[in-house]
Amino acid sequence: MTRKKMIPAVETFVDKMRAVCLGTSRDDTERWDKCRELLKELLKDPALQAHAENWPVGGFDGKKVDNLLFYEDPDHHFVINGLIKNPGGRAMIHDHGKAWTVYGLLRGAERIVRYVEAKKSDGEAFYEEDFAEHCGPGDVDIVPPWEIHSEYAGDEKTVAVIVRSQKSGTFEQYRYYDDGGKVKFSGPNQVPFDLD
Ligand SMILES: [Fe+2]
Repeated sequence: MTRKKMIPAVETFVDKMRAVCLGTSRDDTERWDKCRELLKELLKDPALQAHAENWPVGGFDGKKVDNLLFYEDPDHHFVINGLIKNPGGRAMIHDHGKAWTVYGLLRGAERIVRYVEAKKSDGEAFYEEDFAEHCGPGDVDIVPPWEIHSEYAGDEKTVAVIVRSQKSGTFEQYRYYDDGGKVKFSGPNQVPFDLD
């Protein structure tokens, strides 16, 4: 199947990531460490940065936010997504199920927070902040399977480029309410978007 060529730096990323996949399996941390290095390189690309000026802020249908879907690998199934948040935007606390996620900031600043499960006096689970990192343009975070986290945008719009081990919607994941409890959900809506 032919597809449209993307920005050259993105094609280079895909070629290198496919080579990494040939030598590693999905749950090797080496695969995602290498992906992180490749994504750091990609985030420096001026053509990608310029293209991102026109990426739309993700909508919200009342249940799920939108991710731009730039690429899905036909053999290794990793995907490249874009996620744009308005100033002050935040994600609900969530995990990514069995998927690995490599989350790179192209623009803006975010506070990325990890949570641990704790118990209220009545025994109900809630989620406490464990630690937080402040990330800026060029920073890339690896989120292993089932890790509970959220991202908070600062007072500027943020643009993230995300590599996932498989497309959202093809695995189960959970959302966690600020005041306790969790619910299964099928991940962000995937909105195809050309990166050419
Ligand atoms: Fe996430």
